[in-house]
Amino acid sequence: MKLSKKTFIITGGGSGLGAATARLFVEGGANVVLCDINAEAGNETASALGDNAKFVQCDVVDEDQVQAVVDAAAQSFGTIDGVVCCAGVGGSARVAGREAAYPLDQFKRIMDINVIGTFNAIRLSAMVMTKNEPGEDGERGVVINTASVAAYEGQIGQAAYSASKGAIIAMTLPIAREFAQHGIRVVTIAPGLFDTPLLGRHPEEKKQALAMTVPFPKRLGRADEFASLAKQIVENGMLNGETIRLDGAIRMEPK
Ligand SMILES: NC(=O)c1ccc[n+]([C@@H]2O[C@H](COP(=O)([O-])OP(=O)(O)OC[C@H]3O[C@@H](n4cnc5c(N)ncnc54)[C@H](O)[C@@H]3O)[C@@H](O)[C@H]2O)c1
Repeated sequence: MKLSKKTFIITGGGSGLGAATARLFVEGGANVVLCDINAEAGNETASALGDNAKFVQCDVVDEDQVQAVVDAAAQSFGTIDGVVCCAGVGGSARVAGREAAYPLDQFKRIMDINVIGTFNAIRLSAMVMTKNEPGEDGERGVVINTASVAAYEGQIGQAAYSASKGAIIAMTLPIAREFAQHGIRVVTIAPGLFDTPLLGRHPEEKKQALAMTVPFPKRLGRADEFASLAKQIVENGMLNGETIRLDGAIRMEPK
C-alpha cells in the first residue's frame, strides 16, 4: 500500500514513536488521526503537522472513545486504511516485593492499556477497513502494533509489561489469519531501547549506560527509525502475521 492519500489512526500519537510515525506518514502524503489520552501533547503534535492531521483525545481502553476516533477519521478523510497502535505504558514492581506483593491494580492497568487498548483500536478500525475498496492484491488495510523486546527478555520487575507485550505478539498471527479474507495485514514491531519520553524518565547517565548495552549501533534507537519501519510495513505487501524486532541486537539482561 502506498502512503499517499491513505488515512491512518495512530494511537499514542501525541508523543515518542507514535508522533514520529505521524510525522513521517504525513510527509509521505497520508492523513493521520492521532488519538492520545494526553490532550496537550496530541494537539501540539497534530497542529504542527497541518491540515492532514487531526487530534482526538481518547483513552484506548474506552469503547466509546475509540469509536469516536474511528468516526472522526472516517468523517474527516472518508475512510481508514490503517491503524498504528503505539499507546502504551510501562511500570515495574517485584512480584513478591520486600513490603508487599505486586499490586494487582497496577498489573491490571498495564494489561488494560497495552493489551485491551491495542485490541480495541484494532477491532473498531477493522470494521471500517473491511468495507474499503480493495487495492493492489486485494488489499484493504494494515494494522501495526507495538510490542517490546521485553516480551522475550523481560527484566526483573517487568512481569506485567512483559505479559502485556507478549499478548500483543500472540494476537498478531490469529488476527492476521482472520483478516486475510479481508485483505488486511497485521504486523507487530518489537522495539528495543528507544529515546522517547517513556525512557526519558531515566537520568541521562542511566540512558547512556543503557545505550552501551546495545551491541550495534551502541546507542538508543531514534523514534524516526521506528517510523521508517512502520512505513516499510505499510508499503511492503508481503509483511504479514509477524513480529519484527528493531533493537540493534540487544538481548536484555535479567536486571
Ligand atoms: N521507548 C522505548 O524504548 C520502547 C521500547 C519498547 C516498546 N515501546 C513501546 O512503544 C510504545 C510507544 O512508546 P513511546 O516510547 O513512544 O512512549 P511515549 O510515552 O512517548 O508515548 C506513549 C503515548 O501513549 C499515550 N497513552 C498512554 N496511555 C494511553 C491511553 N490509555 N490511551 C491513549 N493514549 C495513551 C501517552 O499519553 C503517550 O503520548 C509503547 O507501547 C511502549 O510500550 C517503547
